[in-house]
Amino acid sequence: EKVRKLSAMADITFVRQKEPLGLGHAVLKAHRHIGNEPFAVLLGDEIFVGEKPCLGQLIEVQEAMGGSVVAVQEVPMEDVSRYGIVNQEPLEPRLCRATDLVEKPPVEEAPSNLAITGRYVLDPGIFEILANLAPGRNGEIQLTDGLRILNQTSPVYAYQPETRRYDVGERLGYLKATVELALARADLSEPFQEYLAR
Ligand code: G1P
Repeated sequence: EKVRKLSAMADITFVRQKEPLGLGHAVLKAHRHIGNEPFAVLLGDEIFVGEKPCLGQLIEVQEAMGGSVVAVQEVPMEDVSRYGIVNQEPLEPRLCRATDLVEKPPVEEAPSNLAITGRYVLDPGIFEILANLAPGRNGEIQLTDGLRILNQTSPVYAYQPETRRYDVGERLGYLKATVELALARADLSEPFQEYLAR
């Protein structure tokens, strides 16, 4: 029983990105641990909360459509330069085909206000592209630039998951996540509400 449980556990491997050369570079560092199959990227500074996990929703889309799937969300136009932005052709409610992807465009150049958020299911073809990619925005190897190239040969879909999203890389988002998620927990809700009221 113990052996069965242990072998069902995930193998966890850490890879250090010794210099901050960009998200695309960070993903490339994981290549030899992934091999040649679709894989997920989860950015740790974002938390998604929903009845069905965000990543599970993306995996379902990828299994149905093939290619790659990025989670997106509409953001206020003044925030577009903080995100990768997708231009798209609608396919179904919540689902579209990306026609272009641009990393952190200035507001006046943004093709839409549909922002890439921190969950991706990617085709392994992205690795070869990342390995040959020139630095982009901020001098970094940008995953979004890689996806733009990948999209020419393997479709990239954008999906708006049915979840709430917290950006905990930002102080206000961190506080909102802490308070709202604590209030939603059966074991903490009551004492925490009392504390807040006081
Ligand atoms: C990264 C990506 C960007 C994406 C964002 C989501 O940017 O490069 O395309 O929209 O994550 O959080 P970062 O937040 O690392 O600057």
